[in-house]
Amino acid sequence: MKTKWTADRIRSLKGHGRIACLTAYDFTTARYADAAGIHLALVGDSLATTVLGYSNTLPVTMEQMLHHTAAVSRGITTAMVVADMPFMSYQASTEQALTHAGRFLKEAGADGIKIEGGAFRADMIATLVQNGIPVLGHIGLTPQSIHQLGGYKVQGKKKSDADHLLNDARALEKAGVFALVIECVPHALGKAITGAVKVPTIGIGAGRHCDGQILVSHDVLGLSGDTIPRFVKRYADLGDRTLKAFKAYRNDVETGAFPTDAQSY
Ligand code: KIV
Repeated sequence: MKTKWTADRIRSLKGHGRIACLTAYDFTTARYADAAGIHLALVGDSLATTVLGYSNTLPVTMEQMLHHTAAVSRGITTAMVVADMPFMSYQASTEQALTHAGRFLKEAGADGIKIEGGAFRADMIATLVQNGIPVLGHIGLTPQSIHQLGGYKVQGKKKSDADHLLNDARALEKAGVFALVIECVPHALGKAITGAVKVPTIGIGAGRHCDGQILVSHDVLGLSGDTIPRFVKRYADLGDRTLKAFKAYRNDVETGAFPTDAQSY
């Protein structure tokens, strides 16, 4: 039997092996990710855009995140399940963060949570960690701050911004994150941060020097349309195949080719 991936085991992979992470939002995807040996399944707040059809991640609620996290947890036996703290579930206070993070572990079977933000979140993260909640940090492009950032742009291009992100990474490491997502930064900065901290870095658009990678499962499977970010590698064309299958089914129903006697009682 394979051993469950925990925060400690993921942390100990630093320097020893690369960490493959994917988002998952439902039981079926979680089962496939788990069977494929994915180390960490993130129930990302990208649930908002990929599954619920919103134009950004801000509208997704705690209840929606709990609902989908519970479904993912039911499909997982070995991967670590991490739930994304949705917008405004932790920003108001550390008490609010603790209450909401606790719900993911108590009610939805998550093994940890993810929080966006740098050094200014360090105290909050330290409190969560001290209270037994494993935290995955997230710096660089933080989509919950999309209105502040002015769009989905590469972060840390200027030296001062890069220094700021390095400082963020060190502060989060000190606060006790077990790993750190770095989103959409130049690969040289991904490398510099990876070399500067003792916790694993999980890149998404942060180059190949990170200790691990994460992608949105819909992007990997070809289910997110034609415009995908440059950092995505598509491993399947399920969008095309789904469309073909649904069209063939519609055609069979319309022409009477389905059902046949074999599909009848
Ligand atoms: O919600 C999300 O998809 C994320 C990415 C970092 C994978 O946070």
